[in-house]
Amino acid sequence: MKEKFYITTPIYYPSNKLTIGNAYTNIICDAIARWNRAQGKDVFYLTGTDEHGQKISQSAQAVGKSEKEYLDKMIEDTKSLWELLDISYDKFIRTTDPYHEKAVQKIFTDLYNKGYIYKGSYKGWYCTPCESFWTESQLKDGKCPDCGREVKFQEEEAYFFKLSQFGDKLLKLYETHPEFLQPKSRVNEMVNNFIKPGLSDLCVSRTSVKWGVPVEFDPKHTIYVWIDALPNYITALGYGSEDDSLFKKFWPADVHMIGKEIVRFHSIIWPAILMALGLELPKTVFGHGWLLFGGDKLSKSKETGSSECVDPRVLVPAYSADAVRYYLYREIPFGSDGNYSTESFLTRFNADLSNNYGNLVSRTFSMVKKYFNSAIPHLYELTEDDKNLKATVDNEVKNAFDHMAKYDVTRATTSIFNIFTEANTYIQKVQPWAVAKEGDSERLCTILRVLLETIRIGSLLFEPFAPNAPKKVLTALGVESGKFANLDNFDGLEEGRILESVDILFPRLDIKAELEKLALINKNKQ
Ligand code: MSP
Repeated sequence: MKEKFYITTPIYYPSNKLTIGNAYTNIICDAIARWNRAQGKDVFYLTGTDEHGQKISQSAQAVGKSEKEYLDKMIEDTKSLWELLDISYDKFIRTTDPYHEKAVQKIFTDLYNKGYIYKGSYKGWYCTPCESFWTESQLKDGKCPDCGREVKFQEEEAYFFKLSQFGDKLLKLYETHPEFLQPKSRVNEMVNNFIKPGLSDLCVSRTSVKWGVPVEFDPKHTIYVWIDALPNYITALGYGSEDDSLFKKFWPADVHMIGKEIVRFHSIIWPAILMALGLELPKTVFGHGWLLFGGDKLSKSKETGSSECVDPRVLVPAYSADAVRYYLYREIPFGSDGNYSTESFLTRFNADLSNNYGNLVSRTFSMVKKYFNSAIPHLYELTEDDKNLKATVDNEVKNAFDHMAKYDVTRATTSIFNIFTEANTYIQKVQPWAVAKEGDSERLCTILRVLLETIRIGSLLFEPFAPNAPKKVLTALGVESGKFANLDNFDGLEEGRILESVDILFPRLDIKAELEKLALINKNKQ
């Protein structure tokens, strides 16, 4: 039986203004999902949208639409963004999907019947026009932080989840399963800031919020936020429905990939809910860092104060999804925050994609064309130079696998690009054009075959990160894409096969001209 691999992104708040910052989690997950598929695993990759709550109702009202109409358009935009970025999810869950709503009701009732949910009262500062409760610390100068109007102290009946009972169990979980919460720094944050000071019970229903899932046995209550959102990871697999075969097959998740601001919900509330339900826990919750723009974490392009172009709908058509994705893997140290800058994006495009990978492919292909009429040459005995290159390839293949086992897309892409760099250095060293002049045909065959095999291996490894250009190269080489094979040998090509030609993969950019072009687009948008 094939090994299974289940990976999830958080469900996104619906928006038609998602930036490359928002897209970051999905871009990371896509490379990991493709990487695992290429290893032959049975992968289930889940993403979706988080569609309940007061804010959605207000946004729909503001544009004169029903919630459903408003959401359907947003979800269409979100899906088209994932398509643009070549996000290969297996399932898209909407929390307004009827099967999810039903399963969430069941989960709530189940937790109530098991004694983990009880009725109490919620106290807080209420803003009537916004229909929102705020805690003391959320208020701005004693007023509503959203609209700035007066708030009044109010109490309403609500259900609570007994989160306070789970502190010790969570501490034990972090201790006995250090792989559960990563990177490690997030564990200290959770323990010191939340668990050690004592967990409070969690308010899980509201009577003032109408746009949500009603509690089955007390429908004037709406199930509040996290009890609706977090279970998407199991309801998407059919948990709580008649057909839970996917749940049986894929749960527990191998990794919940999330941004660092929602680590608390995924590493405290979610495992507590699962423990209460008597279900297995996800193997890993990974809290990645933020993509910062001029020092800020932007979520919506409208809110951008930065002069950078953050809109994937501009960047992808101009520079390709491969380039946008590669930049994020490579430039933002995985697990930490990183700054986006248009200049570094364009510089990396030229240096890595155009000069390094693109040039390696085009010069190798053109030499094979010139000297062997594009027929893949024979591999004769390897010299020291060839063996050295092979040793680097072997080493970096191993490194890439080690890094991807830890989801470290930054180190993995660095290893893959070391292969291309080394191959370019090899060309300078062995000078195939000089060997051709000397008429040493056997040596020339071997050099070009070594290069083609190196390009094959590097392209196979690079494809999960950049699904387009490496695929073109693999197709031209006559190699099946999306499947890791013969990574440890120079015997993965068919001798004598005629190489198809490949267009220039990443045409070199005039950085100054591109910066001016993007600045103008930004200006016109404001
Ligand atoms: N709806 C909640 C999640 C509920 S999961 C049960 C949510 N949604 S979100 O739309 O705000 O965020 C979705 C993902 O985008 C999160 O992983 C978040 O960290 C990520 N990002 C949004 N802006 C980001 C950056 N600027 N940089 C990196 N990732 C960030 O939270």
